[in-house]
Amino acid sequence: MAENQHFASIIRAYDEYRAWGLAKADRLERHYGKLSDADRAVMRVDNKVAGMRAAVEQNARVIAQLVAPHRASVPAGDDPRVQVAMPQPDGSTRFVPTSRTDYVPESDLEKVQSTLKQFVREWGAEGRAERESAHGPVLDALRKEFPQPEGVRVLLPGAGLGRLVWEVAMAGYVAQGCEFSYFMLIAADFLMNRLGAAQETVTLHPWALQTCNAVSAADQLRPAVAPEVPPSDLPEESNLSMCAGDFLEVYRDSEAAWEALVTLFFVDTAHDPSEYVRAAWRMIADGGVWINMGPLLWHFHDMPGEVSIELTWQELRSLIVACGFVFEREEWCRCSYTCNPQSLYQMQYNCIFFVARRPPRQPADGSEP
Ligand SMILES: C[S@@+](CC[C@H](N)C(=O)[O-])C[C@H]1O[C@@H](n2cnc3c(N)ncnc32)[C@H](O)[C@@H]1O
Repeated sequence: MAENQHFASIIRAYDEYRAWGLAKADRLERHYGKLSDADRAVMRVDNKVAGMRAAVEQNARVIAQLVAPHRASVPAGDDPRVQVAMPQPDGSTRFVPTSRTDYVPESDLEKVQSTLKQFVREWGAEGRAERESAHGPVLDALRKEFPQPEGVRVLLPGAGLGRLVWEVAMAGYVAQGCEFSYFMLIAADFLMNRLGAAQETVTLHPWALQTCNAVSAADQLRPAVAPEVPPSDLPEESNLSMCAGDFLEVYRDSEAAWEALVTLFFVDTAHDPSEYVRAAWRMIADGGVWINMGPLLWHFHDMPGEVSIELTWQELRSLIVACGFVFEREEWCRCSYTCNPQSLYQMQYNCIFFVARRPPRQPADGSEP
């Protein structure tokens, strides 16, 4: 799909969230309608459904703010290459360009929902424990490696909503995030640039549509405020940048350019992890380090038609060693990901945390480096 048509489809997904969320509340209400009036009254489920609708409306208001400045970038016109079968009033079906319909795949709506949860993981007060377990060891390792942060360049691909990039910049390093999802980029721009500059916060209800494993309606509907710290707290002299695009493409020519590469819940986003390992080897400066924290939930493992080279940790490790990296730390850390701390369902990954050093390059003529 052409890039601008892809962008348009992301905006459509954000726009569709309200109708999608309200339809979920309608469905639940229909099913609760099978209960007796007395049972519904005793459990107060009608109040909960009303609360879900109000929560979806509030989320949609935040989404409208988030998307507003990007509407001008949505291309006019159709891309005839991507078509969807639309039922016609006469009962027939006709293929029309998706750009001319309101069609949004369910998977894109799930991504809108995940982005709302990512607000909490990265910028909400309830995400603090998750950040401590995931960001904490990474930041500690960085500080140990480079106690003098000035001029130390740190690249963070798969930056999400930018919180760890911000923390690295706050610690005095030259921090650059790279992210290719427009869902994330649009939300990160909103949080870090627009809310940040205005010193404002937004209130979301990220768990409102999560009807399983809730302890109470109040838990399900509870608000989350973000950002919990003003992104504009960065000192004047800080050095933070975000780069939009595919890590493998954007840094194709980057050689020995970063003292540290930090990958947080990122390695398993690869179609072919050997490409990530070789890119890391090329772009890390002599004596620099690769700091990683994350599981191996290969993102493409269940996507038909997508290449997905799924490796065990030992397989991946042997590739990293064969490339030339020297492991200096290797530990297992329990971390959750966009976990609802109030839910009956709690899931944690046993993440691999490592610090691997890239030894200095050998000069081509074989002389001492
Ligand atoms: C599992 S999320 C982790 C986000 C963040 N690091 C965190 O831990 O909260 C992986 C992120 O990597 C991004 N991503 C995946 N492949 C990428 C690539 N090739 N280049 C840049 N970003 C990528 C995804 O869009 C997603 O935001």
